[in-house]
Amino acid sequence: PAAKSLFGLDELEEKIRSTYGLSKVIVVPGDCETSPFTKRELGRAGSKALLGVLRPDDIVAVTGGSTLAEMADQLTTLLPLSYKNAWFVPARGGLGESMEIQANTIASTMAKRVGANYRLLHVPDLLSEDAYQSLALDSNIGEIVNIIRSSRIIVHGIGEAFEMTRRRKLDESTVSEIQGEGAVAESFGYYFNEDGKIVHTMLRMGMRLEDIMRTEVVIGIAGGKGKATAIHAMLRFGQENILVTDEAAAQEIGRRI
Ligand code: G3H
Repeated sequence: PAAKSLFGLDELEEKIRSTYGLSKVIVVPGDCETSPFTKRELGRAGSKALLGVLRPDDIVAVTGGSTLAEMADQLTTLLPLSYKNAWFVPARGGLGESMEIQANTIASTMAKRVGANYRLLHVPDLLSEDAYQSLALDSNIGEIVNIIRSSRIIVHGIGEAFEMTRRRKLDESTVSEIQGEGAVAESFGYYFNEDGKIVHTMLRMGMRLEDIMRTEVVIGIAGGKGKATAIHAMLRFGQENILVTDEAAAQEIGRRI
């Protein structure tokens, strides 16, 4: 806390919190784009934010990404027994990323670290409409999808739109379509423009927009100067309750508001 007031970070937290109507903003010093130490601190702050709201019988949906992976590694509790009735699930189906940063991996790591349970969603990436429809009829998949949709908490990463189209290896025509739609942010497989409107949706199983909208606690965790516009877009989307970010992104967001 002392370091925070030294850097004026607590004022920045309050400015962002009140501007976007959030319940809590946590800003860690530094820029996680250039500093692995800051990324670790971001992960640690994210795990503290989650433990601050986690109840013994919660269902927590998590997305993928390197930030969430860092958070999973930092998640520790002194009272693992108290979460033996809690569940961690991936928010949506596969997102074409490496194993280490997929939502399934992150859900299972987090669950193990706090002594909770997990269910995974094994569906291939980039489903065709036909495949999607038949998988949706499968009773095992239907069961896990229902659990996912009843989550009380979502913890999600936020990506810069263009970078995410590259990371997910989308074909050129889809990439230019998404760019043409003015997307600046990606989260949950949805692409958002600067006003926080969804402009593009990838076909995925799991959480739908309406499920996100009725989730009680939405925690966004993302940092780095290059993500400021993307984070702003997600805050404009208006479903966030808690934002965990770093100084570099927060300063940039603070300059616009
Ligand atoms: O959807 C957003 C991405 O998962 C964020 O990934 O934390 O590796 O930047 P990242």
